[in-house]
Amino acid sequence: MGYTVTVVAPVNIAVIKYWGKRDEELILPLNDSVSATLDTSVMCAKTSVSAAPEFTEDVIWLNGKKESFSNKRLQNCLREVKERAAAEGSVDKNFLSWKVHVCSENNFPTAAGLASSAAGYACLVTALAKLYKVKTDVSSIARLGSGSACRSVYGGFVRWHAGSDPSGVDSIATQIASSTHWPEMRALILVVGDSKKKMSSTKGMKITTETSELLKHRIKHCVPERTTEITKAILARDFPKFAEITMKDSNQFHAVCLDSYPPFVYLTEVSHTIIELIHSYNEICRETKVAYTFDAGPNACLYMLESEVPKIFKIIKTIFPSSNPTKFISGLPINDADVSTDILGKLAVRTQEHDLIKYVIYTKVGEGPTDVLDGSHLLNELGEPINE
Ligand code: DP6
Repeated sequence: MGYTVTVVAPVNIAVIKYWGKRDEELILPLNDSVSATLDTSVMCAKTSVSAAPEFTEDVIWLNGKKESFSNKRLQNCLREVKERAAAEGSVDKNFLSWKVHVCSENNFPTAAGLASSAAGYACLVTALAKLYKVKTDVSSIARLGSGSACRSVYGGFVRWHAGSDPSGVDSIATQIASSTHWPEMRALILVVGDSKKKMSSTKGMKITTETSELLKHRIKHCVPERTTEITKAILARDFPKFAEITMKDSNQFHAVCLDSYPPFVYLTEVSHTIIELIHSYNEICRETKVAYTFDAGPNACLYMLESEVPKIFKIIKTIFPSSNPTKFISGLPINDADVSTDILGKLAVRTQEHDLIKYVIYTKVGEGPTDVLDGSHLLNELGEPINE
C-alpha cells in the first residue's frame, strides 16, 4: 500500500533576469533576480508522486511520456528532498528507501517555451516535500532542477538571492510581496511563432558567462541597483517605475546574448515590432502604462494594470490580426473596449500580416504551489498514469 500526493505549481516571469551561473552543478547564479508568479488557474504544472514498497525503480512520466529518471537534475532534486526529510526526522527511514513514481503535466504547450521547466521542477520538489513531510524552505532544492524554478516556490513577487556561499545554502528565493499586494497587476503573454532552433538557457548562459564583457558590467553595476529599485516600486505599487526597470532589464539581457561570442539571438522581427508598439503606446499615453519582457525566446510577456487590458488587447488584435479570432485569446475573460481610432492612428506601428502572434494568454499574479485535495491524482493505486 503506497502513498500519493498531488500538487499544482505556477510559472513565473522574471522582471530582473537570471542569466549566468557561478556554479553549473549546484545551479548558483551570478546575480539576484526578481519575478512575478502567475495564476495557476490559467497556467500550471500538475504533479503526482507515489511511494510504495512494491515499486522496483524510480519512474517519471512527463506530459504522457515515460522518461528516464537518470537525468542528473531530477536525481539531485529527489536526493536532496530525501536528505532534508532525513535531517528533519519527518518520516521513517524505511519510507525513504521506497522507490517513487512521478507523473507530471503542464496545462499549456511546452513547445511555446513558456517557463515550463520552472513550473515543473517547483511542482516536483513541492510534491516530494509534501510526501516526505519536509517543513523547511525547499526553494534551494527546486533550484537544483532549474534555476528559475526556485522562484515558483512562492506566490506574488519573488526575489531569488544569488547568495555567496559555495554550498548554495544562501541561494534561496524569498517573497517580496504576496499575490494580494498589487491586485490590479496583469500579464498578457503573446505567443509568437518560431521555427528557429533555439539555444537552450543552460547553454546560452554558459557562453555568455565565458565571453561577455557586458555581463560583468551588468552584474556589478546594473542588477544590484535595479533589484533594490524594483523592490521599492513593487512595495509602493509604482507601475511606471516597475515597468521601466522591467523593460530595461529585458533589453539588457538580450544585449548580453548579442555580446556573447559566438552571439545568439532570441528576439525575432515580431518581438521587435511588439517592443516598438509598446513604446509608441506609452508615448501616446505620456505615461508608462505597459511593460514588455522576453525570456530565452521570441514570446512577449506584457505587464500592465487591469484597467489597460481591454485597450491593449484591442490594439494587439488590430495590429496583429488572427485568422482564427475565436481561438486567439485564452485565460481570464476580457471585456472588449472601444479604443479611439485616434490612438490606433497615432501608433508608430501599422497593421501586420496575419498570424504573426499565434495566440494570447491573459493572466494575473497568483499564489505559489498548492495541494490538490480533491483526489484528482495523475497516478492510480498501482502507481501507473491515469489516462484522461
Ligand atoms: C531567461 O532557469 O531555464 O528565463 O538554470 O539552466 O535551468 P537553468 O536555466 P533557466 O533560465 C531561465 C532564464 C530566463 C530568465 C529568468 O527566468 O530569470
